[in-house]
Amino acid sequence: MVAELACFEAKCRARFAITDVIYNCPRCGGLLEAAYPDWQPDAAALKKTWRERRLNNAPLDQSGVWRYREAIAFLESHNRIVTLREGNTPLLEAAHAAAYAGLDRLTFKHQGFNPTGSFKDNGMTCGVAQALRLGTERVACVSTGNTSASMAAYASAAGLQPIVFIPHGNIAFGKLSQALEYGARTLQVEANFDQILALVRTLAERLGIYLLNSINPFRIEGQKTIIVEMMDQRDWNPPDWIVLPGGNLGNTSAFGKALRELRQWGLIEKMPRLAVIQAEGAAPFHELWRSVEHAALRAVEHPETLATAIKIGDPVSWPKALFEVVSSDGVVEKVSEQEIADAKAQIGRCGIGCEPASAATLAGIRKLRAAGVMDASQDVVAVLTGNLLKDPDYIYGYHTDGLTAPDGAKLRSTYGNRPVVVPNDADRIAAMLG
Ligand code: F0G
Repeated sequence: MVAELACFEAKCRARFAITDVIYNCPRCGGLLEAAYPDWQPDAAALKKTWRERRLNNAPLDQSGVWRYREAIAFLESHNRIVTLREGNTPLLEAAHAAAYAGLDRLTFKHQGFNPTGSFKDNGMTCGVAQALRLGTERVACVSTGNTSASMAAYASAAGLQPIVFIPHGNIAFGKLSQALEYGARTLQVEANFDQILALVRTLAERLGIYLLNSINPFRIEGQKTIIVEMMDQRDWNPPDWIVLPGGNLGNTSAFGKALRELRQWGLIEKMPRLAVIQAEGAAPFHELWRSVEHAALRAVEHPETLATAIKIGDPVSWPKALFEVVSSDGVVEKVSEQEIADAKAQIGRCGIGCEPASAATLAGIRKLRAAGVMDASQDVVAVLTGNLLKDPDYIYGYHTDGLTAPDGAKLRSTYGNRPVVVPNDADRIAAMLG
């Protein structure tokens, strides 16, 4: 199979070598994607191979990304892949969350079970594999936290130098700590995510550093396997809906591409609908979606949300994401800070838990149910993108009535669970516990 880089713009579709170090189409400026022209697998044989690899102890077969390597066939050789056994994330039934949203059933695909605690690991193992193939020594990204944690881990594991750029004071502590511990040179810039992305692109070019933001098409290839694994776990029965939070919109692009390819390759028969959920204060994609002509995204200059992972006002992958939402007959919704906080506490009560951005999914489902866009009987999978422990400050704030929205409004601790200080006195504690 020959892999190429292809311009995503329908009116251009220029093709480039898979080893070109480019992040946008040199001809028209469009986004790029990995393409595998004319590949038509034997679907039944592929499903069997993928299932059998689960029983194998070889590192690549144990990876929930590389097990599906035929679906992401951009490498010529698999000799220099670094895997931390990413993927392999569970599908979890959540009756309590289903009831909260008004559904009969709801399943979470929890990407927070990844080695660095977020879905970024699925893409990063691929981005770093490409960096190794290209012979780069340094890799960089701007991040709201999870990408930097993941890149730091994979780059260090591969012997590359990770350089992360983060918005000063605006990322969750768990994520910043990971970047430090995994050995990244960590630069806290006095600017927001969108501004820093422009800066990093200039620096990457000037210093010859390989860029591992989600504009990198190989990261998108890796994130496709979230969907491939989900379908494998569901015995190739697609749900009615797949719901995910939207920030820079790389994941939406990856999910849509995966679904289209799986259908084209004969691995699934129907297309689930994508529902992308944004935080109200950082919802340019929702705005675009609501506009009649869907012409061009108008950036939000000062995005605001406590769900810092999705605090992005000018998402680079919007043209791909828009195409995928339209192709899947999907929708885009936005939710408030209070809705995110309450939904998050409900996911916690399932014994599952997640970080704030991930909880936008449940808040969005509840809203889409109330509006009649989703039916109670529909089969819905929500992707929880990050682990509960990424942002403990937010959790403590919520449960102790201490969470203030970016606009200064105090959030209600609707499902709060305040810790209680007690004396070292068995009688009094026994009386209290009843
Ligand atoms: N959920 C979490 C936990 C994230 O970290 C991100 C993105 C998203 C959702 C949104 O995904 O950008 O593909 O639409 N985090 C990036 C980062 C931007 O730098 O870690 P998206």
